[in-house]
Amino acid sequence: MADDSISSRISLSCPPDTQTILTAAWSHDLPAIKKLLDTPGAASLQDPVTRESPSHATIRSLGPRPSADTSPEELSEDKESVEAAIAVLRELFLWGAIWNDVDDHDETPGCLAARLGREEIYQLCVEAGIRAELLFGILDGYEELESGDEEWEVEDVEEEHGHVEVVDGGEHNGAPVDGEDAPELIDMPEEESEKKDVNSEDYLKSKVTYSGGKLVDDDGNGVMMAWETDIMRRSVNALLPGLPEGKRILNIGFGMGIIDGMFAETKPARHHIIEAHPEVLKYISTDESKFGPAWEAAGSEPGANKVYGGKWQEICPQLLAEGQVYDAIYFDTFGEDYSQLKLFFTEFIPGLLDQNGIFGFFNGLGADRKICYDVYTKVSEMHLADAGLDVDWDVLDVDLKGLEEAGKGEWEGVRRRYWTLDKYRLPVCTFLG
Ligand SMILES: C[S@@+](CC[C@H](N)C(=O)[O-])C[C@H]1O[C@@H](n2cnc3c(N)ncnc32)[C@H](O)[C@@H]1O
Repeated sequence: MADDSISSRISLSCPPDTQTILTAAWSHDLPAIKKLLDTPGAASLQDPVTRESPSHATIRSLGPRPSADTSPEELSEDKESVEAAIAVLRELFLWGAIWNDVDDHDETPGCLAARLGREEIYQLCVEAGIRAELLFGILDGYEELESGDEEWEVEDVEEEHGHVEVVDGGEHNGAPVDGEDAPELIDMPEEESEKKDVNSEDYLKSKVTYSGGKLVDDDGNGVMMAWETDIMRRSVNALLPGLPEGKRILNIGFGMGIIDGMFAETKPARHHIIEAHPEVLKYISTDESKFGPAWEAAGSEPGANKVYGGKWQEICPQLLAEGQVYDAIYFDTFGEDYSQLKLFFTEFIPGLLDQNGIFGFFNGLGADRKICYDVYTKVSEMHLADAGLDVDWDVLDVDLKGLEEAGKGEWEGVRRRYWTLDKYRLPVCTFLG
């Protein structure tokens, strides 16, 4: 049971300026907060021991949502407190409070609001996250346009705002990002996260192993896992409604070939696969994979069944130049960050997807934490709209049996538990209008 009292959250070693703003936030003293925020960086100060930030303090002091038998007087008092907390939080976020800072219990302000059952406050944190991530996306784009000299400016901004690249922390990109799969939005001290950043270059050089219903790299990152089979099944059903034969399909990221096996069952007219990892390509070429030379030769015409070896970033321009168009495109890589998924749907989907086609991706963005998942659902939805795509989210139940505990059950031998949520939002993307 968490101790949410003020005495346990403001430590004895808390510096006076931090203590002052934490106390003002705890009591929802808006005039005092406004004054304190004149000092740059004040909104994101944290107690050195508990890592309590002013946003945490503002939310924590509310306590749990009132129960059903709360008296009308208490309810009205609670309503007033919530309104005061909202006013303080808005001010804090306006002045740079970091939506994804974690305290010593690994809770962001939004996680804390969710634990206390404060839905309205949780939504405010989600909105702050969306604004921050959209802004950092713009700054990242700006960075690419700059000469090397200016790079420090953006890095400095990221540091200052505690932004962590949406990087696949070892899951697939479902573009996530799972590819990024699961974008890592939370900046944890190294010893706590016990992780090395996963990146595409290192991953593509790593050794990978297929065993026990998993594809794992030599750092123990789960590249693909059998528990995702149901998600693959539902993705195929969504991309090919009614599972008609004779469609043109492009799949990016072979992994364990789960989704390709399902696509193949629909007897497509064209089935193209892009895969970059040399060892995965070696596995594909064996009889075990069912997608080796015999499968390629069995296509309805030369090139109808084809595995393209290489990164999608290199192969897709070639497909565009050939004039290839598909009815269904699925994207599920590993070790890439969200910017790559965004690049794919912005630059390549318009040319590769038929006007009536459907695009989907593995949606593992931020899937190790509910608030990150909620933020990235909205961020990706907005970027998809910018790219001319409408997205419907099919919400699926995820059976968490065997997935509850890091290092146990399905996660045995896998370094990071990249999925913790009981709902999966399956994206079904079509052209707007
Ligand atoms: C999560 S797995 C795909 C799982 C697949 N959906 C399945 O059903 O088994 C990701 C795959 O993407 C591949 N990959 C990673 N980066 C890539 C890139 N830039 N281009 C093409 N393939 C890539 C990985 O080697 C890996 O095989």
